Amino acid sequence: KGGDTFISDSSAQLETGIKRKTAPSAAFTGKLAFAIAAAALGSSFQHGYNTGVLNNPQQVIESWIKGSMTNRTGKIPTQENVTFVFSLMTSVFCIGGMIGGATTGLVADKFGRKLGLLLNNILVILAVICEASSKALTSYELIILGRFLIGVNSGLNAGLAPMYLAEISPINLRGAVGTVYQLVITISILVAQVLGLKNILGTDDLWITLLAMTIVPAIFQLITLPFCPESPKFILSSKGNENQARKALSWFRGTMDVHEEMDVMKAESEALKLIPKTTVRELVTNSTLRIPLIISLTVMIAQQLSGINAVMFFSSTIFGMAGLTGDSPTYATLAMGGINVMMTVVSLFLVERAGRKTLLLVGFGGMAVDTLLLTIGMLFAHTGSTAGIFCVIFVLIFVVMFAIGPGSIPWFLVSELFNQSARPTATSLAVCINWTANFIVGLAFLPLKDSIGSYVFLIFFVLQVVFFVFIYKKVPETKNKTLEEITAMFRQQSYQ
Ligand code: GLC
Repeated sequence: KGGDTFISDSSAQLETGIKRKTAPSAAFTGKLAFAIAAAALGSSFQHGYNTGVLNNPQQVIESWIKGSMTNRTGKIPTQENVTFVFSLMTSVFCIGGMIGGATTGLVADKFGRKLGLLLNNILVILAVICEASSKALTSYELIILGRFLIGVNSGLNAGLAPMYLAEISPINLRGAVGTVYQLVITISILVAQVLGLKNILGTDDLWITLLAMTIVPAIFQLITLPFCPESPKFILSSKGNENQARKALSWFRGTMDVHEEMDVMKAESEALKLIPKTTVRELVTNSTLRIPLIISLTVMIAQQLSGINAVMFFSSTIFGMAGLTGDSPTYATLAMGGINVMMTVVSLFLVERAGRKTLLLVGFGGMAVDTLLLTIGMLFAHTGSTAGIFCVIFVLIFVVMFAIGPGSIPWFLVSELFNQSARPTATSLAVCINWTANFIVGLAFLPLKDSIGSYVFLIFFVLQVVFFVFIYKKVPETKNKTLEEITAMFRQQSYQ
């Protein structure tokens, strides 16, 4: 309780410290665009590409696993054993993600956002070495190790990149720039799905190249990001170097006239000096921090438990349940990937107009109605093709609703809800919980579908309704609000 009072007092000083100053809006400059590309293309590409990459070539990879197991033991393995190894390859990516997510705060504080991102590429190089040598060494264990390493890399990216993007953006563009992280994820899932087609790289000879392609965004980032400055907020609050911070900010804004923004940053950093580094314990015990923590974690869990990756990972199975045959599930999957990208672009423009809360509510509300219709459609899918067509439409609408807000907003909301001192620790927890929920859905969906059939979607429906109510009641609108205004909102609320 004592700690509580201290931090609350310090937060009050933080608020008064920047009370009269509001961060000015700023223009979207070419250099800012360059930095966004360097950070987002190089980082979220790993996240999205490796989410989608095993989807299409599943059969080819399974037959290689079978071959290598036979080679090694002289006995033909059962299909269950082969599927088990393949499932491990898929899900170990999320386990890596949890670990990477959990270490984000540590890396972001120790090395900074930019150097953290750059160093993270070492994991990509190691992962690609493992994956690329696996075939020659007939070792599927190396692929599992590679997928784990790229998972750790993606978990770290999911924390570091949105943090860097939020910190370099002017307040009026924070949501749009934050959405770029999700946009690149959706593009890279689609790229992975297209490259994984049988007539492109999803063949016996080329699937290793498909996996190894993940090196390309790492090279891109290693070439481009060194030209961009570190986040000015990090330079100022962690290194205390005002001149360097001003230079960095001028670079991003394309003007030397950054006094007003610097003043706001300085006031924030001065006030933060009064607050000790925020630990996990403080996040949990101090009520002004606990409220945004609960919101950040719940929104992350909601993103995953909405069931999006049941659709992203197993769309072919779902389209099969809806009665599609032959190559149709593959094409429906590509259509879904394309719609995901298009709607994320739309959300990029909407997020600064409609606001975060509205888009989250529209997204989760729309998903709930749609999931209910999908469940009903699935129950009738065996009756003929009309029900099947409706099911495909409902899956596509599901993705539209996800992409309108629940896909992008959770990634940057956590950066908007916390100050410099608490942001890295809060991001670690939030990203780790996101990957954990992702792992659970990936693991549980197929067994649940096998035991309760189409009713599996009802679970997602109930969860979506619960999250809708939570967002309606607890999530504040952060659009165009300064840290001062956001923290003031939390101080007024009480959870006790
Ligand atoms: C979000 C989710 C990710 C999912 C993607 C689909 O980024 O975190 O797990 O695959 O959206 O667009």
